[in-house]
Amino acid sequence: MPPAVQSMSPLAPIGVSAALETANDQSVKPKPKIFDEFALIDRVGIVSGGNRGLGLEMALALCEAGARAIYCFDLPATPSEEWQKTQNYIRKMDNGSRLEYVSVDVTKQEDVWKQAKDIGDKEGRMDICVAAAGILKTHTDCLTYPAEQFKAVLDVNTNGVLYTAQAAGQQMRRYGKGGSIILIASMSGSITNRDHAWVSYNTSKSAVLQMARSMACELGTENIRVNSLSPGHIYTSMTAAYLDTQPHLLEKWSNLNPMGRIGRPDELRGVVTWLASDASSFCTGSDILVSGGHHAW
Ligand SMILES: NC(=O)c1ccc[n+]([C@@H]2O[C@H](COP(=O)([O-])OP(=O)(O)OC[C@H]3O[C@@H](n4cnc5c(N)ncnc54)[C@H](O)[C@@H]3O)[C@@H](O)[C@H]2O)c1
Repeated sequence: MPPAVQSMSPLAPIGVSAALETANDQSVKPKPKIFDEFALIDRVGIVSGGNRGLGLEMALALCEAGARAIYCFDLPATPSEEWQKTQNYIRKMDNGSRLEYVSVDVTKQEDVWKQAKDIGDKEGRMDICVAAAGILKTHTDCLTYPAEQFKAVLDVNTNGVLYTAQAAGQQMRRYGKGGSIILIASMSGSITNRDHAWVSYNTSKSAVLQMARSMACELGTENIRVNSLSPGHIYTSMTAAYLDTQPHLLEKWSNLNPMGRIGRPDELRGVVTWLASDASSFCTGSDILVSGGHHAW
């Protein structure tokens, strides 16, 4: 009787099926396959906000997992020293992976689409998108929140995430091999950061959660998976604007989760690789929270 499933792992036979298939042949020495499921060999991707912070950390992880090329989209005309050193580190790793840089503003829809199309033309595929570009403004009373500031935050954090996902998704559809789109939201999309007046940021991130679910539902049959990834407090340039100027916040934020500390950018390496890879092939329309348990309290 054929199994009641409509798909097969590209690494089949795998798991218990592999164990059963080889059960009667003592000469077969099974090779562990779990890490192969996480491998990104030959995949091509885009990471917006990849010049620094969480974007750069995740771009590096994707390269370490074997991606052919990861293109970092960010604002500066030339990439940061941190980015250049990371590119050099990947070159020295010599695993066939490339880190590339593209200067583009994610709020400019046509520009973002065009940059992704050029990558599609050059590489002949598109597999991964991490939409991580985002901004956070200063503490501002919600009742007098200025319209222009509110629009500016939504333009990057919500519209820019949509334009980036569209740009990569268009190339995924063009090449017909499916893909994985990871929208970087935040725990602030589903909780409010205590004592911080961040109505624009929180609103923008909530929209990203629903964007991921909505896009996942439209694109599922094309095997284009769309999930959101929601980090908790992590020390980067974004949060340094608060933590470096108000040092008491480190203890306060740390005590808001059961682990009693804030996170490190490298603590997103595993989850982004999992989401980008075949290891998460049945995961779409989900929000993955990585917050040290902030929501559990
Ligand atoms: N650090 C945290 O604690 C935390 C927690 C939850 C979610 N996030 C989210 O993670 C993402 C990355 O944040 P981070 O902490 O690394 O901050 P960061 O400020 O270090 O990085 C954000 C990057 O986005 C880029 N960017 C901003 N506007 C852009 C635009 N219009 N076009 C292209 N690039 C643009 C910036 O230049 C910067 O390189 C953001 O979406 C942020 O909201 C961060």
